[in-house]
Amino acid sequence: MNYSEYYDLCKQRYSQDNSVQRDIAKEELFYTDPVRNFDLFSISKDYKDTILDLSSKVSNDFDSLLDCSTDNIMVKHNNMWKYSSHIDKLSEILVPHLERNLFYCSLYVDKIYIYRTEPMQDRQSSYIWHYDNNPNEVVKTVIYLTDVNDDNDSPYEYFTNKESRGMLGNSTRTGPGRWFPAPNNSRVDNLVENLISQNTGYGSKKVFGPKGTSCTFNNNAVHRANPIINSVRDVINIRVKPTLEPAPSYADPKWTTGFEHSGVVNQNPEYAWTKLV
Ligand SMILES: [Fe+2]
Repeated sequence: MNYSEYYDLCKQRYSQDNSVQRDIAKEELFYTDPVRNFDLFSISKDYKDTILDLSSKVSNDFDSLLDCSTDNIMVKHNNMWKYSSHIDKLSEILVPHLERNLFYCSLYVDKIYIYRTEPMQDRQSSYIWHYDNNPNEVVKTVIYLTDVNDDNDSPYEYFTNKESRGMLGNSTRTGPGRWFPAPNNSRVDNLVENLISQNTGYGSKKVFGPKGTSCTFNNNAVHRANPIINSVRDVINIRVKPTLEPAPSYADPKWTTGFEHSGVVNQNPEYAWTKLV
């Protein structure tokens, strides 16, 4: 079974279990409006305090290089579970919101990254326009742990179509029967720059805001990070996938990985949270 078939089953099950009517027009927006800016502050009054506390602790770790390593593109946090109470709290605020307002099915957290962007001279890696090339049913939420006020602060940026919506790159990983790397490692810099320069309605949007500002995006929405100029940017990135059976908790070391594992999901969506990867 491929990811989109599994997702459809998950939506059927979720609507039955929660006695909600399926709304196909809303469901289609999952693919056609793949980047959303949800206001997580308004969902729970605990959100801001959780972010402020995590922000100062993570910032201390990065400043002192405690539990961190760098590849000169980013400083990666290698011990995220010391913040398991923050992870639980943020997941309990974010994930049900995504279940009810984006996916319309049960979800679990399969990946969390906490990192600080490094200053860099030439754009490379995720600083180039790209899509992640997991199946389309894998969605990330970037939450800023530092204020991102202008171009100095490494804003997240996504490519937009004529309707000012995000756009999906063509994923070459859709399930067990179709799973191969994308051309040019899913880097689409020339294509995007050409389309934007033609002045025909294509463009891009950068996400600015105080710490706690988030952007939820389909992993295949074409996006890039921008270089730090004279500040730092810390981020927690929470990735979710559909699951037929709700997990005992959204995030758990038994089914949620960090930098220690590849970003590529398992080819088989049916394993969901029953396997680590
Ligand atoms: Fe990316």
